[in-house]
Amino acid sequence: MKIFKNKLSITMIFASALLIQACTTPSNKSGYDPVIEAKVDSVLSLMTLDEKIGQLTLYTSDMDQTGAFLRPEYKEDIRAGEVGAIFNAYGAEYTRELQEMAVNETRLGIPLLFGYDVVHGHRTIFPMPLAEASSWDLDMMEETARVAAREATAEGLHWTFAPMVDVSREPRWGRIVEGSGEDPYLGALIGAAKVRGFQGDDLRDLHTMAATAKHFAAYGAAKAGRDYHTTDMSDRELREVYLPPFKAAIDAGVVSIMTSFNDLNGVPATANEYLFRDILREEWEFKGFVVTDYTAIMELLYHGVAEDPAHASELAIKAGIDMSMQDGFYHQNLAQLVEEDRISERLINEATKNVLRIKFQLGLFDDPFRYSDVDRQKAEVMKDEHLEIAKKMAKRSVILLKNDDQTLPLSKNIQTVAVIGPMADNQRDMIGSWSAAGDWSKSVSLLEGLKNKLPDVNFVYAKGAETTGDDRSGFREALRIARNADAIILAIGENYWMSGEAASKVDISLPGVQEELALEIEKLGKPTIAVLMNGRPLTINTLDEKMDAILEAWYLGTTTGDALADILFGDYNPSGKLPVTFPAHLGQVPIHYDMKNTGRPMDPNQKYTSKYIDAPNEPLYVFGYGLSYTTFDYGALSLSSTTMTQSDSIDVSIEVRNTGKYAGEEVVQLYIQDKVGSVTRPVKELKGFEKIHLESGETKVVVFTITNDDLKFYRKNMTYGSEAGEFVVYVGGNSRDVQSMEFELLE
Ligand code: BGC
Repeated sequence: MKIFKNKLSITMIFASALLIQACTTPSNKSGYDPVIEAKVDSVLSLMTLDEKIGQLTLYTSDMDQTGAFLRPEYKEDIRAGEVGAIFNAYGAEYTRELQEMAVNETRLGIPLLFGYDVVHGHRTIFPMPLAEASSWDLDMMEETARVAAREATAEGLHWTFAPMVDVSREPRWGRIVEGSGEDPYLGALIGAAKVRGFQGDDLRDLHTMAATAKHFAAYGAAKAGRDYHTTDMSDRELREVYLPPFKAAIDAGVVSIMTSFNDLNGVPATANEYLFRDILREEWEFKGFVVTDYTAIMELLYHGVAEDPAHASELAIKAGIDMSMQDGFYHQNLAQLVEEDRISERLINEATKNVLRIKFQLGLFDDPFRYSDVDRQKAEVMKDEHLEIAKKMAKRSVILLKNDDQTLPLSKNIQTVAVIGPMADNQRDMIGSWSAAGDWSKSVSLLEGLKNKLPDVNFVYAKGAETTGDDRSGFREALRIARNADAIILAIGENYWMSGEAASKVDISLPGVQEELALEIEKLGKPTIAVLMNGRPLTINTLDEKMDAILEAWYLGTTTGDALADILFGDYNPSGKLPVTFPAHLGQVPIHYDMKNTGRPMDPNQKYTSKYIDAPNEPLYVFGYGLSYTTFDYGALSLSSTTMTQSDSIDVSIEVRNTGKYAGEEVVQLYIQDKVGSVTRPVKELKGFEKIHLESGETKVVVFTITNDDLKFYRKNMTYGSEAGEFVVYVGGNSRDVQSMEFELLE
């Protein structure tokens, strides 16, 4: 009865609030929906301080574990109205059960928000983000997020902790696999595409979910590539390299932002007013809500900026952090802080409104169970259409790094192929880390994919070696089958747990004795193809020298084997390009294409220039690099004008011709260099690209338009804008092999 009365009173307050709002609200200038704002205010007015704090508290269920600490009492917390959101709980039935506790057993019946790391698929697992980024196919990346949202929402989820938009130039850092690579421009476009995919046009739509851009900010710059480590950088580098993907996600409408674990210039992100109040809320006018990363408020104690839990909570709420994930610090300390007048209740009201707003936007107050639907779950998860999309994305995510003498594609008439290596008959690693509710036993291994595709070819398998350790006892069998084969496919790399969170490495060469195995096999003189599966750029100079062909497959998800079989046997022509530089030596790290020239640019014949004495400056594979089974010829570059003003533009055109015998796709890339600036400028920066399909012999003209926006940067006084002067425009199929022309931006 009590519950019924409260529900009724909420409804009545809504009705009167709406009435007042309809009569008095002026036009909506803030970007908020006035109808929802009125509802939020009316719910807030009913809430006690403890109930508000409950909305700012997020706990994990014990269904999955993504951090060190669990809280066994989370169900009691729900019943007590002391938790507003739950993560790591999914499934139509389980989410309904928990939602019933919140709706039926608490005083106000405010529905829970269910979050989860739906990073690259929910049940149907797509390629890891770094792999998808290799496709340079924004529409497909949007599509896979859309499908992930369809499956996740059918299992009761409302909110994903994705996309991860941390730029990283640090291959030692395991989380590089979760992002889109080293480039802020590409990263920004991908971040926005992912947000559109997850959130769609309307959050109320049952198939869309709230997205989270994470981790704010500069997490990808952890010193020495060690996870959670300090970052310290200029405001210029922060804004030029690390922030653009967050801004793009916000412009695309992302509704939540997650803090990062690192400290930035001495202030941990989770207590960083500059990041959250000044940049996020003031400058960017972000209207959504901010959640911490796992126990990040508690970690303020270890960072050494908070004396005790109350102090840590005070720092976080003052910095503008709305919801605490898992440490319970808000739950345990905020009320006391208000009582002691250390913080104003206004701060708590603000944060609570930010959380309630999203619940309204998702339609949870209308029907808290609308996402927990067993029939929809059955119909949606892993349906054929989703698996087809996964396979398409997987194929597009593979990069051909080497292909001497057209070793690939293999002929379908080949008789015997030796399939060797620890990644060959392997299902678990295929779905990578952060594989949500993905079931690895449903993933297609390379070996299975090959056998399914070509039952008449004799595929013989030997593991040869593990990924780790120095056991060489499998070499003999591997060599035996290789000796009798017409070609050898070597599936080698890193296990899924060697990248991802808390998986930094000091050595980024192929682990274990895999390289040794590859070299032994290569000595047989048979066509040898390395298929790499790994979560970071690796130092693979020797493989590059010795293998006939190399495919970078990263972790391709549920349909790995099917996708790779199509590529290896020529039913799909690889079209991926590297979103991250492959160093030749670990000592070159950080190495990225958009370096500065320095005052002593590299000259191999001059001692006192910027270089190494024991290795070249050049990486093994440059950013944007990737081959095809066909070849593309670039015609001459032409500009519509060699001068422009801030208000006009220049068209850059180039003819691209497919000169090989296969149809294929090419990512035509445009880079710009500002020759002289008030501050030093990178040697080139990606400013456009287009992925085009060309039949054999076909020619297409690609036209890019350069506008003043492409020439802007943070000038000496930190204002954002362009400077008149000379620029170089480069176009090509990667960041090194380009043609160039110059133009001038007039005053
Ligand atoms: C990770 C986040 C993730 C969270 C919840 C943390 O350890 O850093 O990226 O969203 O756990 O699973």
